[in-house]
Amino acid sequence: MTLDIRDHDQPTQSPAPVGTPPPGEGVSRTLDRRSFLRRGAAAAGTVSAGAALLGAQREALAQWHSGCLFPGDAAILRFLAALEILETDLWQQYNELGGIQDAEVPGGTGNPAYTQALLALDTDMNQYIHDNTEDELTHEQFLNAYLIAHGAAPANLEPFRTLASSKATGAQQIGRLTNLMQLTVDTSWWTRYRDPNHNPDLDPRFVFPPAVPGLLNGRFPAIPRTDNDLTPPNHLQAIANTAGFHFATIEQGGTSLYPSLAQRVTDVEALRIVLSIGPTEAMHFQTWHDKAGNAPAVTDPTNGLTFPDLTDGGQLFQKNLIMPEPCPFLSRRLPRCSIVRPTETRGAAMGALNFLTAMGLFRGQPGAFFHYMRGLAVHADAARRGSDHLEDD
Ligand SMILES: [Fe+2]
Ligand SMILES: [Fe+2]
Repeated sequence: MTLDIRDHDQPTQSPAPVGTPPPGEGVSRTLDRRSFLRRGAAAAGTVSAGAALLGAQREALAQWHSGCLFPGDAAILRFLAALEILETDLWQQYNELGGIQDAEVPGGTGNPAYTQALLALDTDMNQYIHDNTEDELTHEQFLNAYLIAHGAAPANLEPFRTLASSKATGAQQIGRLTNLMQLTVDTSWWTRYRDPNHNPDLDPRFVFPPAVPGLLNGRFPAIPRTDNDLTPPNHLQAIANTAGFHFATIEQGGTSLYPSLAQRVTDVEALRIVLSIGPTEAMHFQTWHDKAGNAPAVTDPTNGLTFPDLTDGGQLFQKNLIMPEPCPFLSRRLPRCSIVRPTETRGAAMGALNFLTAMGLFRGQPGAFFHYMRGLAVHADAARRGSDHLEDD
């Protein structure tokens, strides 16, 4: 039994990153775990940039743990690490302009006008943005360190840190992984969590109406692109409102992703990691869900984007219904239950990647970026609980 892991875990610096081939195109269907460990360690050794920070820790990590990971668990944790890197990147941009810049979350100098517009949603918005950013950074660093400690390759997106920063006052001028200036935000999670009769896992064709339909019809900035975006006031408030709904949209995705992938984790410790990080995403979501309901009803005079008053929309839109309304779960023959939804595990990783792509978060990234991310998602979705080998669907 052999494993040809090749370079399947890492993009290369030059020429263009090649990403991960799908199962069967470079990875034998049955994996020898010792071989995986040996080659995984070799792959980890080729990492530069992003993993450079971890390089100094690698020896200590190896001494802490000399065991190995099931390949399926490694694939799931690596995909989650990649998404956490992307989350950190977007939250970092928000923090530089609208959060609190300090030793815990360094970078940027703040944009007073944008910060003030965010405070219309809650007077603690800047603290919450700071803390969410710090959380994502620790998720990213922990998951990659855990992979390295077990001889598996970490996720590495450093070659793709090429997108432009905001030119508004307060932002660092560095390469970014995510684009917060042309977002198309699907706010249907708002009614998905209020609807007592439909569950996306049981009703995959049911269309949950969005809270802010306008955010689905165009490309909108969630941060000021330049200081020209700081006026007129309703334009800036619409940008802050877009951010407020985007925060919750991102975190509800994480709230579903972790339980979805947990169902296919094999090792108890790897499961513990997924079950311990996942609920922090739910805590983020719950917070942002509450704050989004405070977004002032405004129309952006520059592009017509309207944030409606949700007060009179009935239960499906009621602002203070921020706890999950009980809904059908697993079977309509069972009693309704207050749950996270969706949690279907089949294709969950690719679904998450498609969700982030559809919102425009990666606008401007090259094909090699999507190739790499799709490769990680394919491997994560090929993992099976209780199995020590990857397999096709
Ligand atoms: Fe996270
Ligand atoms: Fe998160």
